[in-house]
Amino acid sequence: MRRPVIAGNWKMFKTQEETRDFFDGLEPLVGNSSHCDIVVCPPFTAIPAAVAAARGTHIYIGAQNLHWETQGAFTGEVSGPMLVESGCRYVIIGHSERRQFFGETDATVYQRIKAALAVELAPIVCVGEVLAEREAAKTESVLQTQFHGAFAALTAEEFQRIIIAYEPVWAIGTGRTATPEMAADAHRFLRQLAAGQFGKEAAAALRILYGGSVKPDNIKGLMAQVEIDGALVGGASLDAQSFASIVNF
Ligand code: PGA
Repeated sequence: MRRPVIAGNWKMFKTQEETRDFFDGLEPLVGNSSHCDIVVCPPFTAIPAAVAAARGTHIYIGAQNLHWETQGAFTGEVSGPMLVESGCRYVIIGHSERRQFFGETDATVYQRIKAALAVELAPIVCVGEVLAEREAAKTESVLQTQFHGAFAALTAEEFQRIIIAYEPVWAIGTGRTATPEMAADAHRFLRQLAAGQFGKEAAAALRILYGGSVKPDNIKGLMAQVEIDGALVGGASLDAQSFASIVNF
């Protein structure tokens, strides 16, 4: 009932030329794949090349961040309207690398979500605990804090336009994937929070992606969980063949 989403987060990888090569390789491999939404999120500089390469396909392009103002004296930032003009349809918000290295907080995640929704970008909002929190059995309280900080002030209508990515930080780029059961437990908990805040229907429709060392050889097991509605893929999204085999789970 929930349409799966497979999204690639390239992080700070790929030039424009590498982007064109990637799409040359990807398109023939996913051209007939209509069972899920396919999203690729390149760095800002490669977005126009990605949009041009994906034109006429059913692959959507997203950005990895946006500022909450539409324009202004914010050196180094990019706004929602700029992303829309460039052809983006999605935007990743609150990735753990932004939280860890660039001072992202739940409050700024909320502001960015509002800015994305205002220009009809679909936000993919990342939440997840670090290793010490998981080991101290604090996963649920961390998710609860992040959920409330980022989503509680949204209207039900706004919340329905959001995709959540559960990304346990200890699984990102480490090769250490959460087991499908661990991921499903976290997803179930997030869905309960959504039900409490926005009602059962909104919770049932909410798409929750798993992220953290998703690879061609573990995607099937993850997608076998009814709670898992897709994946946010980092390292394995950089290679057209490996990303295509994840899309074609
Ligand atoms: P990874 O990254 O797949 O390389 O672990 C996932 C992410 O950071 O979104």
